[in-house]
Amino acid sequence: MQPTVQPFFDPATWTWTYVVSAGEGTACAIIDPVLDYDPKSGRTRTDAAQKVIDYVRAQRLSVQWVLETHAHADHLSAAAWLRGQLGGRIGIGGRIPVVQGVFKKIFHLEPSFPADGSQFDHLFADDETFAIGELQARVLSVPGHTPACVAYQVGDAVFVGDTLFPPDVGTARCDFPGGSAQALYQSVRTLLALPGDTRLFMCHDYPPTDRAPRCETSVDEQRAHNIHIHDGIPEEQFVAMRTKRDASLQMPVLILPSIQVNIRAGQLPPPEANGVSYLKIPLNAL
Ligand SMILES: [Fe+2]
Repeated sequence: MQPTVQPFFDPATWTWTYVVSAGEGTACAIIDPVLDYDPKSGRTRTDAAQKVIDYVRAQRLSVQWVLETHAHADHLSAAAWLRGQLGGRIGIGGRIPVVQGVFKKIFHLEPSFPADGSQFDHLFADDETFAIGELQARVLSVPGHTPACVAYQVGDAVFVGDTLFPPDVGTARCDFPGGSAQALYQSVRTLLALPGDTRLFMCHDYPPTDRAPRCETSVDEQRAHNIHIHDGIPEEQFVAMRTKRDASLQMPVLILPSIQVNIRAGQLPPPEANGVSYLKIPLNAL
């Protein structure tokens, strides 16, 4: 089964969003949609998500799911806004309460904020199967970048989230709260045990200047060429490389706004008495 996969690239955050379907006039899932956010003005926009809507309408697709691979730290999610426009249910990995619990403390969120995943319509269990219209999908647990990361397998396509990047870019960082380079290594081995021609669709690309961003790779290509984790690299070597590299990375520009919105399934924080929503900046906390 080879589903139709339509990618959308967000150049502001280097994020790939996908719509996966069985073709025109069928059901679809939207994966990792982006809500535009301007940190200078604190203003959100829906230009990126509108491109997804335009495609869904042109293809006469019915949105059954809006899927998140994890609580992203580099872009705000448009899941809630898209659900309002197109319907569908917002799904995420079942360990998201772990992430919500950590960040509820860091952001000292309102006591009524439930760290139980109830902001999402569905929490997926490991290996859970579900339908996207006539397509069969399966959830793969791929912790490491965060403790709650999942990948979605739909036919020969796997949406890998922040695990693997293109072979010349490598792998996702593992230094966020609850991250683990050991866990990421094992998660990647799980993904790379799939058939060699499995299509892997990545959540990001950070290309060198001499090539355009790419969204798709394969198990075979990653096993042969991934600079961090190709076949033959033992776990200890990967963990040492990943740990050293992560220590040199700055926090993503949008981590503070992103997390606060994304652990609410893409909803802005509840407005205060004046009707305005506020984001918090915890000082000296990250
Ligand atoms: Fe991420």
